[in-house]
Amino acid sequence: MSALLELRDVRAAYDGVNVLHGVDLRVDAGQVVALLGPNGAGKTTTLRVAAGIHPLAAGGLLLGGRDMSGAAPRDLARAGVCLIPEGRGVFPNLSVRDNIRMMTFTGRSRDEVEVVAFERFPILAKRASQTAGTLSGGEQQMLALARGLACDPAVLLLDELSMGLAPLIVGQLYEQVAEIARQGVAVLVVEQFATAVLGIADHVAVLVRGAVKQQGHPDGVLRAELSALYLGSPA
Ligand SMILES: Nc1ncnc2c1ncn2[C@@H]1O[C@H](COP(=O)(O)OP(=O)(O)OP(=O)(O)O)[C@@H](O)[C@H]1O
Ligand SMILES: [Mg+2]
Repeated sequence: MSALLELRDVRAAYDGVNVLHGVDLRVDAGQVVALLGPNGAGKTTTLRVAAGIHPLAAGGLLLGGRDMSGAAPRDLARAGVCLIPEGRGVFPNLSVRDNIRMMTFTGRSRDEVEVVAFERFPILAKRASQTAGTLSGGEQQMLALARGLACDPAVLLLDELSMGLAPLIVGQLYEQVAEIARQGVAVLVVEQFATAVLGIADHVAVLVRGAVKQQGHPDGVLRAELSALYLGSPA
């Protein structure tokens, strides 16, 4: 079976300087794949390439086995690819409700989008008229996730969901992510620190200096690699 999302020998550069040197990754429907690695490894760039926001210098981007290399971000979004960027993709000056209701370009009605979001995140329903910028960090991340789900994604790309959040909140967010995957979505999660996401990941890849250094099941050979990578860090 072909993966829902596949990166084949992906190379990418900024101003002619290569930062991805042949990244291979695949995410099946219903799977959570964690992409880990230190600062500057190329994790965000990998997600940006997968969403079509950053161009491929070489290699291939496939969706459901179909070659989408070079496709525009809008076409990838239409095909079901949804990126929740680093640093919370919400509009701080709009209310929670308006942040959710503006995600209707996928053809769902505004009411439907709102109902789905508030069912999954009841706390957001309570704060529907609050300005998004005044939500707590965890609530803002929930709103970012809710906005992502409103697009009805087939492939969900999450960049550092846990950044700046308490472990308890991170655990709750990742429970939601696991549930999203159980509904058949292919989820690619980027995290710098490992522990938060390992509990829900089906597969882990470690990116170091623009190349996947190791990948496998989270319980497998990766432990030594991860502890070496994060030695002295709070992971
Ligand atoms: N807009 C840009 N212009 C030039 N270089 C960039 C740009 N964005 C990223 N880079 C460089 O590309 C490399 C990979 O960056 P990227 O943001 O993908 O790393 P990352 O793994 O997400 O890091 P972090 O954990 O710090 O978020 C880094 O060396 C970075 O300096
Ligand atoms: Mg990053």
